[in-house]
Amino acid sequence: MQRLKGKVAVVTGAGRNIGRAEAMLLAEQGAKVVVNDLGGGAYGTETGDASLADQVAQEIRAAGGEAVAQHSSVATREGAEATIRQAIDSFGRIDILVNNAGIVRPARIDRMTDQDWTLCMDVSLTASFHTCRAAAAHMIAQRSGVIVNTGSPSGFGHWGMANYAAAKEGLLGFTRSIARDLGEFGIRCHLIRPVSHLTGTHTPEIDETIAESARLGIPLLWNKPMAAPRMTALPEHVAALVVWLCSDAAGHISGRDFYIQGDEVAVIPEPEAIRTSINPGGWTLDAFDDEANRSYLFGDIRNRFIRRD
Ligand SMILES: NC(=O)c1ccc[n+]([C@@H]2O[C@H](COP(=O)([O-])OP(=O)(O)OC[C@H]3O[C@@H](n4cnc5c(N)ncnc54)[C@H](O)[C@@H]3O)[C@@H](O)[C@H]2O)c1
Repeated sequence: MQRLKGKVAVVTGAGRNIGRAEAMLLAEQGAKVVVNDLGGGAYGTETGDASLADQVAQEIRAAGGEAVAQHSSVATREGAEATIRQAIDSFGRIDILVNNAGIVRPARIDRMTDQDWTLCMDVSLTASFHTCRAAAAHMIAQRSGVIVNTGSPSGFGHWGMANYAAAKEGLLGFTRSIARDLGEFGIRCHLIRPVSHLTGTHTPEIDETIAESARLGIPLLWNKPMAAPRMTALPEHVAALVVWLCSDAAGHISGRDFYIQGDEVAVIPEPEAIRTSINPGGWTLDAFDDEANRSYLFGDIRNRFIRRD
């Protein structure tokens, strides 16, 4: 049984790794796929190699599916809009948009360049705005559609990754908001935080951020220690979650935040107040001192980021 028969999907950054696996599985499940990739690399400044997208589209067609390659950079408005237009021109509609293209440019904040910041924002956050806006117009007219945006566990906070974390976590607020904008039209929107070992964005510099966090004795990210993986997390595991979310089986889910690494998937909770304190008449400096002495609101909160040695 094909779960997405007759659907039309766009996957950005689909020339390799996670995006490629998503495009392949979407096609295997019956979707016609626009395989977007400018053929760059993990740092956002590499020269384009158009053959990446061509090869994936060719693989899909060789397996009996339908696909076209598209080589624009989604980091520009023109490129993002051309990518969505390709779906309409080639297949007449767009049912699924997977914003997967992403780059990494790690640097501690005092050493982060304007280019490090802007490139991350352009590829992860602004690109998704441009593709979502263009796709939403068609999905609203169709009164159906699914959008999957690609965040990262780094968004929880990651030493040396402030640009990337800001872009990815910005994407989460964006996703929660467009889920609200588009819900009445039957359009569902999600954010996924994938982990895939051995792929492009897992660069040597990422390993350095992990080593530096360990050296400082501070939590790398998340609210729990990163356990040693039980297995190699593959792009195909990420693709399975994405395709399932795009299918009718997930028709009741929208605006949610998922983590996936190999054999583990998690639903990340929506933000909530863990403790609330009311000060009648409003808060003042003295009232905060009193509150701190009561050890209720700030009770167990400690600075976890101070170097231990
Ligand atoms: N690999 C991981 O463990 C991991 C962890 C967290 C988040 N992510 C996110 O998952 C996504 C895919 O990661 P990956 O490791 O497969 O990446 P990758 O570097 O292996 O592949 C990304 C692809 O996106 C393309 N791309 C980059 N900029 C583009 C642009 N402006 N327009 C069109 N295509 C562009 C690249 O050419 C590349 O082929 C990214 O958004 C990444 O941030 C990955």
